[in-house]
Amino acid sequence: MTVQINPSILSADPANLEAELARISTADAAHVDVMDGHFVPNLTLGLPVVARLAQVSPVPLDVHLMIDDADRWAPQYAAAGAASVTFHTEATQAPVRLARELRAGGVRAAVAVRPATPVEPLLDLLGEFDMVLVMTVEPGFGGQSFIEGTLPKVRRLRQAIGSDGGPSTVRVQVDGGVSRTTIARIARAGADVFVAGSAVYGADDPAAEIAALRALAEAPHQA
Ligand code: DX5
Ligand code: ZN
Repeated sequence: MTVQINPSILSADPANLEAELARISTADAAHVDVMDGHFVPNLTLGLPVVARLAQVSPVPLDVHLMIDDADRWAPQYAAAGAASVTFHTEATQAPVRLARELRAGGVRAAVAVRPATPVEPLLDLLGEFDMVLVMTVEPGFGGQSFIEGTLPKVRRLRQAIGSDGGPSTVRVQVDGGVSRTTIARIARAGADVFVAGSAVYGADDPAAEIAALRALAEAPHQA
């Protein structure tokens, strides 16, 4: 299973985003948290900023929408240059229709669940998505501590998908509280895409932190 490390620029310096993206050029993607002050109690950035980031980023953009009315807005983030667009199942009327629309637009479509939202309703629909994001903190802020009770969901998803991608190529992403302390056990549970904000941008050397996280996730049984 190829592991992906996607640093979240939520913990980067918002006055220097181009330079902050350059510091994570060894990552697989840059995770961009879009918050609307309604779906979550925090407000970050929107379409014009994402469109510019897509132009200057050395790595693809993994856009995580924490916004209401995703059915209306998500396709616009695809058009703005995101490589993948993740919407929350709690903020979507028709997740399958939306995922199909995103894929038709040439981007990867992902569906996210809050910590208290079950994954079971998605299990028969996994082929409709490129990735499922299991939130491992309550969405809204960086730097929170990992919620251990989300791991059984990661395990159930991995079991449904199969190892090594199995017949499908659906990825299992985790977001929140991912660090050197937690990443090996999250990888053992079956996640293969790891978002890390404060761990990467809080480090003196983000590239070294990305490498350390990647090594732990690739060989989780040795950790
Ligand atoms: C939280 C965001 C995360 C956040 C993670 O709602 O979705 O992407 O940046 O931050 P850390 O890695 O610090 O928990
Ligand atoms: Zn996120």
